[in-house]
Amino acid sequence: MKITVIGTGYVGITTATSLGEIGHQIMGVDIDELKIEQLNNGVLPIYEPGVEPVIQNLLKQGKLHFTTSLKEAMEGTEIIFIAVGTPQLSDGRPDLKYVEEVAREIGRHMTEYIVIVDKSTVPVGTAEYVQSIIKEQLKLRGLSVAFDVVSNPEFLQEGKALQNSRKPDRIVLGCSSQVAEDVMLKLYENIDALKHLTSPRNAEMIKYASNSFLATKITFINEMARLCDLLAVDVVEVAKGMGMDKRIGPYFLQAGIGYGGSCFPKDVSALAMMGREVNMEMTILKSIQEINQKQTDWFLERVKECMGALDGKRITLLGLSFKPDTDDIREAPSLKLIQKLLAEGAFITGFDPVASNKIKNIFPNIKIGEDAYSAVKDAEAVVICTEWKEIIDLDWRTIKSLMHGDFIFDGRNALDREMLQLEGFQYWGVGRNLNKIV
Ligand code: UDX
Repeated sequence: MKITVIGTGYVGITTATSLGEIGHQIMGVDIDELKIEQLNNGVLPIYEPGVEPVIQNLLKQGKLHFTTSLKEAMEGTEIIFIAVGTPQLSDGRPDLKYVEEVAREIGRHMTEYIVIVDKSTVPVGTAEYVQSIIKEQLKLRGLSVAFDVVSNPEFLQEGKALQNSRKPDRIVLGCSSQVAEDVMLKLYENIDALKHLTSPRNAEMIKYASNSFLATKITFINEMARLCDLLAVDVVEVAKGMGMDKRIGPYFLQAGIGYGGSCFPKDVSALAMMGREVNMEMTILKSIQEINQKQTDWFLERVKECMGALDGKRITLLGLSFKPDTDDIREAPSLKLIQKLLAEGAFITGFDPVASNKIKNIFPNIKIGEDAYSAVKDAEAVVICTEWKEIIDLDWRTIKSLMHGDFIFDGRNALDREMLQLEGFQYWGVGRNLNKIV
């Protein structure tokens, strides 16, 4: 099938790549000329493991092409994916201006039946809104062309995009007509996954409800971790025991220094706002936001409890992206932590396998290590913010010998506590301290 994907951000690129992989002919569109040139040369503007070679391959086979002209891309296209950004407004709602602009542009060029798909995360009712914008444009042109707007939310996790798109848990298709449903089922016929057929409004809500539920799960275990610390209980053991119950499941129960990224914080805010707009305060979402906000403060308090005043202390942060296998630092807990540690007067050195430069741009006064070993030199404490495999697999004996102190604050409960204790570290994990540093 001939597909157009508008927006070459994270969602757009991964959508284009995964649809190209299952045999479709893809046109990627963006207004950013530089990005389009890069992509046509097979250069990926984001860090996402495994995607670049797939794009290069698809370009070579002529199955993928990028352009700045939506008009050109729309010629003969059967489906258009809207995958543009929806940045957060100051009141917590997503800004739909790019979606609106794209919808207008589609309406300006459409001449035959096309299925328009909302891939960006957008509030309930957006499919209807997009439909009305396109209709308005067609009316201005004196045309009456049939089309459908479908909601097909994206559930890919950064860092695992290829894996997730090749084998998704489910594909949610919110369609407003049988024709659109048939087109969407044909599009995904080669992907073996559960397909949930529903209305556009339901599909839009499924995305927000899923992300907010996952954020709730993480927040629940984060609050449990704080209680575990006070009651001499190990939260890792608790999560393991809870996760064996099929109704609960073992995923997203990893306590840490809070969730971040471009989705959870934004989607929880947007869902809360959707509630407020119909006079419903979602108290659960409000609590999640508050608890997640406080998680870094709580963590910092524990660091101070162990190390005393931080003024003049040398602390190294390892893993600065919001999670492993990505260079994305949006809402990364490391940002809040660096800010707070600097305010306490600590000297900060950081290292991340791919996100170091981005952090340096935001905090020019911190030191960045060329690698993890140079970053920990003379440090009194090491803080793990993101559980990159490269970091977990470091030679911790060498790390210890390079450090000036022996504290290790494992903000992701990712390291081998027993091994580190044997190496002479004072290990602290989130909610697993049996009331004291061991
Ligand atoms: C998320 C959703 O998982 C995905 O379905 C959606 O399409 C986009 O948003 P992503 O933002 O890539 O994906 O990251 P995810 O792996 O879900 O992690 C989000 C945050 O939660 C990270 O900061 C991560 O470190 C944190 N997290 C995750 C925990 O603190 N504990 C966990 O157990 C799991």
